[in-house]
Amino acid sequence: YSKTTSGMKSVYVTRPDVASIGIDLLKKECDVSSWSQAVPVPRDELLRQVVGKDAIYCALTDKIDSEIIERAGPQLKCIATISVGYEHIDVAECKKRGIRVGYTPDVLTDATAELTVALLLATSRRLFEANKEVYNGGWKSWAPDWMCGQGLKGARVGLFGFGRIGQEIAARLVPFKPSKLTYTARTERTTEAVKLNAERVSFDEMLCESDFIVACCALTPETKEIFNTDAFKKMKSNAIFINSARGGVVDQTALCAALKDKRILGAGLDVTTPEPLPLDDPLLKLDNVVILPHIGSADVNTRIEMSRITALNILAGLKGEKMVAEVSI
Ligand code: DGY
Repeated sequence: YSKTTSGMKSVYVTRPDVASIGIDLLKKECDVSSWSQAVPVPRDELLRQVVGKDAIYCALTDKIDSEIIERAGPQLKCIATISVGYEHIDVAECKKRGIRVGYTPDVLTDATAELTVALLLATSRRLFEANKEVYNGGWKSWAPDWMCGQGLKGARVGLFGFGRIGQEIAARLVPFKPSKLTYTARTERTTEAVKLNAERVSFDEMLCESDFIVACCALTPETKEIFNTDAFKKMKSNAIFINSARGGVVDQTALCAALKDKRILGAGLDVTTPEPLPLDDPLLKLDNVVILPHIGSADVNTRIEMSRITALNILAGLKGEKMVAEVSI
């Protein structure tokens, strides 16, 4: 069942690889088949392809649920995702079946923090709105009150989530001289917070007092749609909301209403629900929102490293060795 005709372990890769890095590594030791189109592998194709595989190399666009795991068969030893988020994998099912799960934390922290700060500045200083005016004839003259945004200097910033990425965002914001950096997290992170002069506050305090709120948490049952109507109501009217975590942490209808009614100043989103966002989505009609297509970790070297680690995680998983990064389940 599990062995291919070559006698090697078999791996299914659900995405075309970054410069073939991961696939080349896997091919040295395994029989590899892969989906080669730029769009995610269709569900029925995935269900067909996983049958009899020893490992699955997947991405956040693939729902690896109990049906896929069951269909793969009892020989399935490990699943590795080319992402730090793993909410698309049914880890409870993996635990039940002794399947190991690999992921790619750390290597994408800097790239994601960098993009989050870029998105924050693009939103607060209205870069995309201003850029459009250059092309559509809206740029008539320099004017004292034209295209004014909100500066970071002297502003209070709240980070929702203070893990690896949250801390790196904070470190990058310090030189902009905010008046105060705060964080909301499940656990007190005293040592890390002291270094960054960040103060832990309640979610309510963050909502009520911040000029900028940055969602950089994992999507879990606790954080699902935590930014809802109630949360947006509590925010200051000049608040700018940034999300580089997951679209699922936001009630998007509530966010859209808050932006439309100018209850908050603006939003910068690298993640949405769904992805891609349909072209007729009401968010796309608003001027006070900047939307990016989930490119937090999209720098070439980061993606190469993510691919390499995903492959190494699979090889380790198949041999029963220590993975580079394994989800503890
Ligand atoms: C992740 O890794 O979870 C990011 O969202 C994409 O790199």
